Amino acid sequence: MKIVLATANKNKIIELKKLLPSSVQLISLAEVGITEEIPETGSTLEENAFLKANYVLKKLNEQKLNYAVLSDDSGLEVKALNGKPGVNSAIYAGLPKNDHLNNIKLLTDLKKCTKRQATFKTVLCFINQKTEYFEGIVNGTIAYEPKGINGFGYDPLFIPQGYRSTFAELSLETKNSLSHRAIAVAKFLKRLGN
Ligand code: IMP
Repeated sequence: MKIVLATANKNKIIELKKLLPSSVQLISLAEVGITEEIPETGSTLEENAFLKANYVLKKLNEQKLNYAVLSDDSGLEVKALNGKPGVNSAIYAGLPKNDHLNNIKLLTDLKKCTKRQATFKTVLCFINQKTEYFEGIVNGTIAYEPKGINGFGYDPLFIPQGYRSTFAELSLETKNSLSHRAIAVAKFLKRLGN
């Protein structure tokens, strides 16, 4: 099956490629001529996942290309911040998107806060004749300082439940065995019959 991956995020692509079986042939946005940034104006992860997948689908239709589309919208919800940054995770510290500044803002907002529970959530939107959503959630806590060099985004700050290391200190294989994205992909694969 050929699927256009509706994301330009290199790290998401690396993770998704490893999570998906070789029977799923992934096509990049560049391969179908989409180089512009896709607007993410929704107020939920579901809405943004749909906006990304639907944008790509329309571009494919214009080119008479008949591929399925898969998008990923993810967000970090911190309990003490009433669920923030949530759907605004990518631009928490403002525009342009900057992972490092987002992490600094999160640490600043949680300064002296000992209640550090958080959840990471991924919503996959798959459009192939019909539109379907697959959600993955992982619980954890926010570290007091960034640790580790692997991964991306909030990985240096997110400690998954049951671990003492941040995602960025874990190997990609370990992150992919338990992450929000891995849980969502597992549901997607079950639906595909894999
Ligand atoms: P988006 O899904 O591309 O909108 O990403 C939302 C924000 O969460 C961005 O700042 C990403 O860097 C971050 N992010 C998405 N997935 C992950 C992840 O698996 N680990 C850490 N940060 C992530």
